[in-house]
This record gives sequence, C-alpha cells and structure tokens, in this order.
Amino acid sequence: MEKFVINGGNKLHGEVEISGAKNAAVAIIPATILAEDICRIENIPDIRDVQVMVKILMEMGAAVRYINSNTLEIDTRYINSYIIPYEMTKYSRSSYYLLGALLGRYSHAKVAMPGGCNFGGVRPIDFHLKGFAKLGATITNDNGMIDAEAARLIGNVIYFDKVSVGATVNIMLAAVKARGITIIENAAKEPHIVDLANFLNLMGANVTGAGTDVIRIRGVHSLHGCSYSIIPDQIEAGTYMVAAAAAKGDILIKNVIPKHLESITAKLRECGVTVIEYDDSLKVVSNKRCKCCKVTAMPHPGFPTDMQPQITTFLALSKGTSIVTDGVWDNRFRYVDQLISMGASIQIEGKAAIISGVQKLHGAPVRADDLRAGAAMLIAGMCADGKTVIENIYHIERGYERVIEKLKKLGADITKVDFPDENQKVKVISPAG
Ligand code: EPZ
Repeated sequence: MEKFVINGGNKLHGEVEISGAKNAAVAIIPATILAEDICRIENIPDIRDVQVMVKILMEMGAAVRYINSNTLEIDTRYINSYIIPYEMTKYSRSSYYLLGALLGRYSHAKVAMPGGCNFGGVRPIDFHLKGFAKLGATITNDNGMIDAEAARLIGNVIYFDKVSVGATVNIMLAAVKARGITIIENAAKEPHIVDLANFLNLMGANVTGAGTDVIRIRGVHSLHGCSYSIIPDQIEAGTYMVAAAAAKGDILIKNVIPKHLESITAKLRECGVTVIEYDDSLKVVSNKRCKCCKVTAMPHPGFPTDMQPQITTFLALSKGTSIVTDGVWDNRFRYVDQLISMGASIQIEGKAAIISGVQKLHGAPVRADDLRAGAAMLIAGMCADGKTVIENIYHIERGYERVIEKLKKLGADITKVDFPDENQKVKVISPAG
C-alpha cells in the first residue's frame, strides 16, 4: 500500500504554484455536455477527481484530447446516451453533476448515485431533486439510479433552504437551456460557482448574479464551444498558507486570487501570522508560536469548511484555547482522533472542536479519512517531532496536484513509499532529495 512518510520539523521556504480549482473543474467538465462544439479548457488540475470525470465523459462517447496534462479539448457532440450506470459513477462523488448537464441537453437523465463521503454520511441531494422538479422534471428512483425526465424544462423560481454548492451547480446546468427564466434564491456564492457561470456564458448562456445569493438564468436555444481557463484553487492555496503558518517559515504562494482567500488571510493574521498580498500571489511568514482564535466554517465568503481540518491542525499548536465550529457539515471532525494520537488536545462538543494548544505534536501512523482530513495529516506530520506515516493517501491525491513535489520543493521531508506486505522490501516511489 502506498503511504506518505514525513519526518517533521523542517520549516518551509521558497515558492509554490497553485493549480486550477478542483471544485470548478468537476463542474465545468460535465458542463461541456451542453456544448454543440469543441470546448478547450486550460489550467485543469491533473488530479484523480478530474481524471475520473474525464473518463466518464469518454465512456459516454465524448472525444477528449489532452493538449498537455492541464489543457483538454472536449468534444461531446457524439455522446448518444443520457444513462450513466453505477460502474461509471461509483468513483466520482461529483458525478451527480451529470444529472443537471444531461437534463439540460436531453430533458432526460438517468444517473446512478455515487458513493457517500467519509464525512456527512451519504451526500444528500434532496435540494438538487427539488430544483429539477421545479423546472418541470419528474423524478423517480430506479434501484439507486435517479431518473429525471421532462417534456420540456421550464424556468422557475427555486429557493434553497440551505446554501448548497452542488444543488446550485446542478440547477445552473439544467436551466441554461430551459424555456424562460430561472431564479435561484439563496444560491451558493463560492468562487467555483462564479467560474462555472463565466464558462457557461462564454458558451452563449445568459447567467447573471453568480457570486451573489440570487442567480438569474435566461434560457437560450443552444450553446457553442469556447476556450476557458479554470480559476486557481482557493482551497489548495489556503492549505499551503496554513501549512507554512503551522510548520513555520516564509513561502510565496503563486497563481492565486487573493480576494478568494480573504477569510483565511484574516484568520491567520488574527493568530499573529504575517500575510502579504500581491496581485496574484501571497507571502506567508510565520516564525513564532501563534495565538489561539475562534473559527466558524460557513458558506462563502465565510471561512471555507474545506479549510476546517487544516486550521484545526494549525490551532492544535497555538497558545491558549481555540474553538472551531463547522456550520456546513454535521460531522466533519473524524480526523481529530488522528491528531489526538499525535499528541493534540482536542474535545468535540456537538458541532465544535475545543482545542487546547500544545507545544508539540509527535509523529505517528495516521490515515487520511477524506481529502481535507488528509491535508490536515500532511500539516500535522510536517510540524510533528519524528516520523509520521499517512495511509489512504489516494484521498489526498484526489484533490492536490503534485503534492509531494510541491512540498519537497518547499523543504518538507516527505516521500511516497510503497509498503507491500511484511515479507517484501519497502520501495521509495517519489524521487529522493
Ligand atoms: C461541495 O460539496 C464541495 N464539493 C465540498 O468540497 C464542500 O465541502 C461543499 O461544497 C461545501 O462548500 C465539490 O464542489 C465537488 P453542499 P457539496 O451541497 O456540493 C447539505 C472538498 O473537500 N445538503 O454545499 O456536496 C449538505 O449535507 C469537498 O473539495 C443537503 O442537505 O456540498 C451540507 O450539510 C468536500 N441536501 C450542506 O447542505 C442537498 O441536496 C452543504 O452541502 C445538498 C446539500
């Protein structure tokens, strides 16, 4: 089994380049199903979640040409089915976006629901289905396959009781070619929602208000191809910011949109970390034990829930008692057990983690329970005394492009090692040094 092995204690120095946004890419790639011509997409992160989504489109009959590992040309004109079986969706949590895209193209979609997530249980999609029904679709569940069909999708006003990124994306995909106007109230405002809206408008859609809580979509007859570049990944950038704050050091994070990182910058500054903003980069300098603080993860522009495990790890080493609350996911603290095994002092009370800062963490064998929990283990391992071995690293590689290469370049002592069963020799995979 491949694991990450980290010898902690190295400060981080140098530069890191941020890749394209995973959560924008996994929405924009299925959106190409709506195009009646070729789409060229640049700055796509070369990560498993994207590779799986591309593979699904190819199995549906799309032609995909890799110009390079981060640039694709996608031609979906020859897709000939609105049915996506479980064999194709089981590895991609974002495959429910195919519902909106296929509905938008065929007024019919039959998609097997993907597996649940390691936190929040099976990911609910009741808001998505309620939105499709408001557009005139009849929804049935055929042995775990969601079947959504409409004679013609008709624009409507859709109000989400709770802010949902996925439901906002899915309704945008279904509504861009619906007849009339669709208004999404209490819409998600994340950067990747705005990125999707910009992509759809470049294809000829008419989407306004993305980035606010009211998105207005005037249906158009058809959408053409386009060329587009994905925005930088807000959460990857935030992860490196917090890694430098926790492990100490001085790093320049390049290819970012500082405005997307404002809530993370504010929190780190509150704890005593120096963050300097430039046009498309950020400098993070940390050389002392930081102060404690309170963090509440909320929908954008609040502190991102996808940064909750990382900031909790950083605060585990700060002075005093911090409180981290997750206002988005009900039980996204499973990784705290792993931090406690490394010497952290954290108590979970309902939706909050009460963190008593400790001077030191010590290395230990830990596992990545999900993508961002895995990022937290990387940060903890880099800060800890001694060796940390992380298993289930496929979670981390789902969402962080060339993570070993980027961390090694910043000075972290990290390698990917294949641990076969006991009687075989250990093999180092990532380049030494
Ligand atoms: C997206 O998940 C992201 N994934 C998640 O990032 C992120 O944590 C989440 O948005 C919140 O920002 C992608 O973009 C691929 P939601 P999504 O719908 O769309 C409840 C990562 O690490 N809800 O915004 O599934 C839900 O239970 C991943 O990159 C319903 O009740 O999240 C949650 O409590 C992890 N019914 C809240 O809303 C629904 O139909 C927000 O969920 C939909 C959601």
